[in-house]
Amino acid sequence: MTPVGAARFVPPDRSLPRLAEAARHCEGCDLFQEAGPTVFGAGLSDARLMLVGEQPGDQEDRAGRPFVGPAGRVLNEALDAAGVSRDGLYVTNAVKHFKFVRAERGQRRIHKTPSRTEVVACRPWLFAELEVVTPDVVVLMGATAAKALLGNDFRLTAHRQEVLRAPADSGAPELTADLVATVHPSSILRGPPETREEAMAGLVDDLRFAANLL
Ligand code: URA
Ligand code: SF4
Repeated sequence: MTPVGAARFVPPDRSLPRLAEAARHCEGCDLFQEAGPTVFGAGLSDARLMLVGEQPGDQEDRAGRPFVGPAGRVLNEALDAAGVSRDGLYVTNAVKHFKFVRAERGQRRIHKTPSRTEVVACRPWLFAELEVVTPDVVVLMGATAAKALLGNDFRLTAHRQEVLRAPADSGAPELTADLVATVHPSSILRGPPETREEAMAGLVDDLRFAANLL
């Protein structure tokens, strides 16, 4: 079934508390059915720097807040190393419900990458967050977040430490923010241990690059 998309659930009154409340009742795609409550973005409504991840993970789904699990710990470490305080940011995800499959044995829920259809269905929430927060710089962490604003053909590895703009046909509203793409913190956890240090240094460098645009 084609998802109806989140647009019809986004209220006209644009404040973060109103958006977050409305997002709790979103049925814009099928992901709400199996996941816990909607994990909306969190942070300052007037943050100048916004970070966008992929979707909540298992722990975020339980806590109802973004980046509080293992990926959040990597992110916090990278922010510390880059000299950026998380308190001054707005942090959110491209998709607001946890997509997972159950392990064959046991109850473990294993992350599943959201489909393009789900990303497009959920984007109105991200657009609304961008409209309210009006950040100067947006860091897109990982391919899902980058493709949500830069189009499905976007290739992350070719565009590190570049100021990017959403192409006209991306479906994103006109944004004044500088967009910067980087790796997802989880990719550092999932990658081979011998490349971890280098990958982490890359994320830290990219965060520093973004902060220096402010
Ligand atoms: N991964 C994400 O992309 N976002 C989270 O909030 C947690 C893990
Ligand atoms: Fe709505 Fe997004 Fe959740 Fe789908 S993932 S139900 S579009 S909030």
